[in-house]
Amino acid sequence: MKRIYMDNGATSYPKAPGVAEAMSDFILNVGCNVGRGAYAEAFNAQRKIWELREMLCELFEGPDPKNVIFDMNITQSLNMLIKGFLKEGDHVLISPMEHNAVVRPLHQLTSIGVSYDLLPADEAGCLVVERFSEFVKPNTKAIICTHASNVCGTVNPLEEVGAFAEAADLWFIVDAAQTAGVMPVSMKRFKADAIAFTGHKGLLGPQGVGGFILTDALNERLTPLIAGGTGSHSESVVQPEFLPDKFESGTPNTVGLYGLHAALSYLNKEGMEKIFAHEMALTEQFMNGIRLLSGVKLVGRQDVQGRTAVVSVDFEGYDNAEVSYCLEKYHGIATRVGMHCAPLAHQQLGTFPQGTVRFSFSYANTTEEIETAINAIQEILKTL
Ligand code: ALA
Repeated sequence: MKRIYMDNGATSYPKAPGVAEAMSDFILNVGCNVGRGAYAEAFNAQRKIWELREMLCELFEGPDPKNVIFDMNITQSLNMLIKGFLKEGDHVLISPMEHNAVVRPLHQLTSIGVSYDLLPADEAGCLVVERFSEFVKPNTKAIICTHASNVCGTVNPLEEVGAFAEAADLWFIVDAAQTAGVMPVSMKRFKADAIAFTGHKGLLGPQGVGGFILTDALNERLTPLIAGGTGSHSESVVQPEFLPDKFESGTPNTVGLYGLHAALSYLNKEGMEKIFAHEMALTEQFMNGIRLLSGVKLVGRQDVQGRTAVVSVDFEGYDNAEVSYCLEKYHGIATRVGMHCAPLAHQQLGTFPQGTVRFSFSYANTTEEIETAINAIQEILKTL
């Protein structure tokens, strides 16, 4: 049975052409540490990583390549942005669609007197910006929100959210886990102070590399959570204040960064718009193929406007876990089932605690695979 991968919301597969080769080349032929050695390979690796910062700075329309910070994944990025920034007495506003990567660090901070509230959203989980002012308190410091839901793909109107944040004098931090590499994500247009990203989803790179890009103003307020060797100012016991070193202590995942460099090169060559158009055509085919089946409840937006290629289904009258199991066991279709690490989102969408079966498509999926998935769902619903 052919394996059909439909869990790209968790991590994209396959990776962009060239990623595995670039990583293998690093291991086999480069192999050095970055920013530490005074020899040709180390200088070349440093140039490559800088080039990657330039590509990401351009992609996110950020202030400067040095403001691109690398780490392991977006969870680490969001922890750094949240915990390095908020202090006792601060209040923040988040969307009800947040992933636990935002909610859990905030929840931890409630023990030191940080508080948060959920912003208003509609039944598809889309933020209702007109009502935001009711939620701002004198001690509100920031809005932190996801660009698109990892549960149902709903995209938030971040230009409007950013304009509100600017007018209300709030910092604005964006979780672009589901949109980086998928659709335009712009610090400039969103008036964002920071955009957190991961390398292994829409950017089509490997796991273990992520990061964030931030403004100089936010950088001045942000304390690094990790201190240590940076390869710079090694005579001093004081953590460097300049970017990116301030936030990049310790040996980075250079092999992963080589992979991400290759992925970005592929994305730039192929074109994000072409990739997105293919994914949305598949999404439309899938939604139209299952929407009328008895027992299928499409969660979130009912059409392809304002969404990504992430489709959640609540199989009403069935056990979602059993449907997901049968999809894999009898049809080779890999999906994700449950809460998708976003319990608040399910409360907003009315799918708590049963969760959903999530189908998330990529550029590599085909119309034939979508047809197979539609037929598989029909068959499973008949037999269960
Ligand atoms: N956050 C990832 C997901 O949505 C892992 O599956």
